[in-house]
Amino acid sequence: MDDFESKVRDALANPQNQGELADADAVGTVGSPDCGDMLRMWLKFTEKDGKRVIDRASFQAFGCQTAIAVASMATELLKGKTAEEARELSASELTGDLGPLPPMKIHCGQLVEGALKSALDQTPAAPLPAPASAPTLSGGFQRPAGKIRIVPLDDEQPS
Ligand code: FES
Repeated sequence: MDDFESKVRDALANPQNQGELADADAVGTVGSPDCGDMLRMWLKFTEKDGKRVIDRASFQAFGCQTAIAVASMATELLKGKTAEEARELSASELTGDLGPLPPMKIHCGQLVEGALKSALDQTPAAPLPAPASAPTLSGGFQRPAGKIRIVPLDDEQPS
């Protein structure tokens, strides 16, 4: 088995930081036009030595194994980085120990980079006053969008 595939297999055997971050400060979702796969990344920031740095990053992938392996590596690499430092990271740097991606898999790394940049674009400049207001996947399902008035069915029936 070639070296790259065995590293991907190792990463998939114990993927890091998979799943929703309930108290995240930012979330980014992208889809790949090449293959239709999707990846979502959550970022949680903290203050350290007077700088605002990434405390935790997590992901959910609806796609290929390479994207999952890269996202696992990337979410580990991001810890302790400022938003500016994270934005500087290219897809090839986010692969970490996996090394360079084969040509057919480059877009898998770009999917991870895209989700990261999307999350960074939505990162507030200052800490959010109420972490519970951060967007989450489950929160998105529970919170009605816009001003929806909920009317009990009994009120709608003619008297
Ligand atoms: Fe679609 Fe890898 S094949 S992200």
